[in-house]
Amino acid sequence: HGLFAACLFYLVVMDQLGLMHYMEVLTLITAAEYVAPTSDENVTVMDTEFSNVAVRLYLPRRVSDGPRRAVLFFHGGGWCLGQAGMKSYDQLSRWTSNLLNAVVVSVNYRLAPKYHFPTQFEDVYSVTKFFLQSSVLSQYGVDPDRVCVAGDSAGGNLAAAVAQQLLADAEVKTKLRAQALIYPALQPLDLNLPSYQENANKPILSKSLMVRFWSEYFTSDSSLREAMALNRHVPVEYSHLFQFVNWSALLPAELKKGHAYTSPTFGSPELAHKYPGFLDPRAAPLLGSDERLRGLPPTYVLTCQHDVLWDDGAMYVGRLRALGVPVTHQHAADAFHGAMTFVLGPAKLAVGQRLLSSYIEWLNENL
Ligand SMILES: *[C@@H]1O[C@H](CO)[C@@H](O)[C@H](O)[C@H]1NC(C)=O
Ligand SMILES: *[C@@H]1O[C@H](CO)[C@@H](O)[C@H](O)[C@H]1NC(C)=O
Repeated sequence: HGLFAACLFYLVVMDQLGLMHYMEVLTLITAAEYVAPTSDENVTVMDTEFSNVAVRLYLPRRVSDGPRRAVLFFHGGGWCLGQAGMKSYDQLSRWTSNLLNAVVVSVNYRLAPKYHFPTQFEDVYSVTKFFLQSSVLSQYGVDPDRVCVAGDSAGGNLAAAVAQQLLADAEVKTKLRAQALIYPALQPLDLNLPSYQENANKPILSKSLMVRFWSEYFTSDSSLREAMALNRHVPVEYSHLFQFVNWSALLPAELKKGHAYTSPTFGSPELAHKYPGFLDPRAAPLLGSDERLRGLPPTYVLTCQHDVLWDDGAMYVGRLRALGVPVTHQHAADAFHGAMTFVLGPAKLAVGQRLLSSYIEWLNENL
């Protein structure tokens, strides 16, 4: 964590000196984790395109009695970083494919700062729609009743948004069987929830980095980031949306941790008019109306105790349950954000392995 924090500090300094865009530097770091698509004895791995979007495909080699299950996976990295070919994501997809005898489609959606919302969402959405066509499912030997979306962090955000949008899309006939949301980011409306206050400086994802990711999803204009850091970016005309992030009403008592709820402080209308994406449920699934959320498929939500995003996940669980959506909420009291990617080599952690196993087990039982 110390090393990571030191790197981030230098990145901020370089960025402020204008030497290099902060996100471009982080991209270089994640690029060092890249592995080429390599098949093994169990899984055939290849890079291809679905609907003009790059994907990495994992096809099990094992013979199958009937059609297979499929997982559409969206990696994390704050909509700015990461890719299917990062060692940890490649391994996660490989294991998922082998253990579940499932086709895994890991999507290389386009990233900020080059691309902003809705590009990331539209990329994963068009891959999902492409894959759900019956001709494509049958080409890959996939059972149309056993397809799910899954993702971690920003990928969990994209998975939740895709699942909602599919319900509203009359063109799509195939329904998702499940959605798995691994420590998802679900709303940028209130960036001062109790979990943000408690975990502002925890490993991997600090509050300021999350603010950076959220603002960068919509624009590189630093005025949005500055307003978000002060939690003063939502104008009064959108005050009705606060019902969906009202942690006073939506969080169980033990998660409030003694914090006192205060009504929102409103910002100037200008930012919301320039960057309306941050009020859009396709970027902020927790802001979807009850009507939009009703009918979502069985859902797995993993939250971690030492994570600014804990309350996002917990509030989504509460809303989905209230609407009758079956939800498995796994909360890891000993984990930090991103723990599930610590499953390899020198960065291997027992907690990462444990979270990965329970996620795979849930998919095995529910997909
Ligand atoms: C292939 O699958 C078997 C059984 O699940 C496992 O023991 C083996 O380690 C896998 N091979 C690779 C390269 O992952
Ligand atoms: C949030 O919920 C509390 C009740 O728990 C209520 O008193 C308050 O008015 C709500 N605030 C907003 C902005 O919805």
